[in-house]
Parts: sequence; structure tokens; C-alpha cells
Amino acid sequence: MLKGKNIIVGITGSIAAYKAAYLVRGLVKKGCEVQVIMTPAGKEFITPVTLSALTGKPVISEFFTANSGSWNSHVDLGLWADAVVIAPATASTIGKMANGIADNMLITTYLSAKAPVFVAPAMDLDMFAHPSTKINLDRLRSYGNHIIEPASGELASHLIGKGRMEEPERIIEVLEEFFDEKKNSDKNINNISYSNLSDNAYSEEVIITDEKKTLAGKNVMITAGPTFEKIDPVRFIGNYSSGKMGYAIAEEAAAKGANVTLISGPVNLNTVNSSIKRIDVESAVQMHQAALDKYKDQDIIILCAAVADYRPESVAEFKMKRKEGEEIAISLVPNPDIAADLGTKISADQILVGFALETNDEENNALLKIKKKNLDFIVLNSLNDAGAGFKTDTNKITIIDKKGNKYPFSLKSKQEVARDIIEMISYKH
Ligand code: C5P
Repeated sequence: MLKGKNIIVGITGSIAAYKAAYLVRGLVKKGCEVQVIMTPAGKEFITPVTLSALTGKPVISEFFTANSGSWNSHVDLGLWADAVVIAPATASTIGKMANGIADNMLITTYLSAKAPVFVAPAMDLDMFAHPSTKINLDRLRSYGNHIIEPASGELASHLIGKGRMEEPERIIEVLEEFFDEKKNSDKNINNISYSNLSDNAYSEEVIITDEKKTLAGKNVMITAGPTFEKIDPVRFIGNYSSGKMGYAIAEEAAAKGANVTLISGPVNLNTVNSSIKRIDVESAVQMHQAALDKYKDQDIIILCAAVADYRPESVAEFKMKRKEGEEIAISLVPNPDIAADLGTKISADQILVGFALETNDEENNALLKIKKKNLDFIVLNSLNDAGAGFKTDTNKITIIDKKGNKYPFSLKSKQEVARDIIEMISYKH
């Protein structure tokens, strides 16, 4: 799978840099051509000589080669690569990547690269847990980079926690799975185009339209995250939705040139694209009202939020006190079904997309929802698929249109899933 692939391995200043030698050796053994780029700090941990001996190529670290004065072109390198793997990636490098601070050869190459990027963080547990690292990693995810999560264990500091760089063998497996999956999903898309679509082939469009602003001038509204339904001033009924899928769709639609309105339930996420207009709400009733205020102007409406079906009939004015030995009951009343309501209101040229997270009889339930809510598409994910659903960074979906055509996709990052959804909708719009 990796034979003949050009891989850039970026090495930064971490104790785990020694593991990069095993990574490089493993990749060379698989038949890859490997170019190592080291940050200045990386060279303090492992010598370039070791790595150039393994790759058969000089290690690049500076913008200019000292003895010849020749310039190392980060642009050429970025175009040459089939994949960029940054392992180990320190908090500093991750921060620079997230913010475009291009003060060394590795970051300039990263910013120029067109290839998929894999990042294997390595740092102390507190650094890994710091909000700034989390935000930077979320940013990298939103750029479509693949984060290879560090493992838990004893760290260089002798503290125990999450921050150990993933083992080189596993990083190689991740790359193999990626290229394998890419091959399969390209194959899948080809199958779909001829077996399921009655009109033009979708397959070529998927690849050709990738970098185009296919939604320029379109208005897209997305609901995302959970809703919280108040019980009293300190308690609520909520659910496990993280909002990651909806936020990824919002970023993808904005990247494709759409004017995005994101109606968000309570989540711990930030938007990256500054053009996204975000409306924060808490409850289903508030989300419904925000959707009613905005739906008329929209070309595409994607309802990704996990809206509570019920809310407490009344909200206690004061914190409810525990009464020893007494049971309490909360009476629940139904919330508005935003999707079904918009389904009765939208005009024929507006596209309405819903989500269905199912646990059983998935496709039949999804088909029933398309009818009941008058949707153009439903994006089905099943809690039975490992890596799909709430909280995860990945998802495995099947898009079903109102004619009943089914388009299954493989397990992918939520960013890649967002791209598939947006491409499918833009193609059909
Ligand atoms: O019926 P179910 O909740 O499974 O339907 C899921 C779809 O309907 C999702 O697109 C979700 O955002 C939307 N929905 C909604 N308002 C509700 C319940 C679900 O918009 N009250």
C-alpha cells in the first residue's frame, strides 16, 4: 500500500525523536521514499546523520544549505509529498502549524503541502491537557489534518499520563489504512456513480470540484450540538452530542464559499473560518426560534443538532432540594421537531438535510424520517459502527436521498465526512 509513496517525516524537539528513526526505517522498508525535515530543536535530540543514513538522503533543516548556499524549496517539497508525517510533534510545532507561524523549514513545507498531513503529538501530560494544545489540535483537525492521538503511559518526566507519541509501527499502520481507505472510497464513489445515480456521474465531480468554491453565493444554515433543557437553575436534561460533526460541516461549507449561519447548542468548540455567523442557543425551543428566524434566506439547511425530544413542563425557580426517602417525577412535554416543521415550510428550491443516529433497523428508520420530515437527504450513522456517532473524531455514514438511493462511505474523520456531505449536496443542488 505504501510502496512508491513519497513521505516527508518532520521531526521536532522531543525526547520521542528517537522513535522517528524507527518510523523512518519502517517506511523505507515498506518501499517509501522518505525525506526528513528537522526543526532546529529536533536536531538536539537525534542527529541528522542517523536519519540521512536511513533514508539515503541529506536531512533538510535550514532554508539554505550552508556549504553550497543552495535554497531548499519548501514549495517543491510540499508538492512532491504524498503524505507529511510530523512525529514527534511538540506543543510548539503544533501551535505554529495551527497559527501559520512559518519560522522554520518544517512549518513552511507544511503550509505549502497539498498532501494529507498526519500529526503524532508527544509532550508531557499537562502540556497535552492544556486548553491551548487542545484548541490548536482542534484547529489542525479543522484544516483536515489527521491527529494520531498519543498513548497514555510513563512519560520522560516520569509522570504517568497521556502524551507518549504513538509507536512507529502504529503510525505506519495509520498511513497504510489511510491509503487503503482512500483507494476503497475512490472505488466506492465510482461504484455509486454508475449503480445508483441515474443522472451524470458523480465520481469525477468529487475529485475535480474538490478545491472549487462550489457554494459561492449560497446561504447555508446548520444546526449543531446538543440542546440543554432546564430542570432548575443548575440542572438540565442534555445529551452526549459534541457538535463536532455540525462544526466540521460549517467549516467545509464556508471553505466552499457559502455564507454560513451556524445555530449552535452548548458545545466546547470554536469556529475557525471568521465568515461563519454563529448563533448560540441552549434549548430546543430557542434553536427552533433561531431556525424560524433564518430559514427563509437559506439555499441549504443541514440539521445536525441532537435536539432533545422533550423538555420539563416547568422549570423550578430555585434549586430543587433533596428530600430524604422521597421520589420525584419530572413531567416532560414534547419539543418542537425543527426538521419536521421546516419540512412543511420550505420552498421547492430549498434543500433540507437531516441526520439520523440509529441503533437498530437503521435504513428503514432513516427512510421513514425522510418522508416524515420532508427531507431531501438524510445522513445516517449507526451507533453499532465502531468510530461513529457522538464524541468521536470519526464517523461512518450512508447518505440516502428521497428517491431511496443509498451512498455508503467508509469510516473517516469528521472533516472528511463533512466534505463528502457538502460535495454530495452541492453536486445535487
Ligand atoms: O427524529 P430524530 O430525532 O431521529 O431526527 C433526527 C433529525 O431531526 C436530525 O436532523 C435532527 O437535527 C432533527 N431534529 C430536529 N428537531 C427535533 C428532533 C430532531 O430538528 N426536535
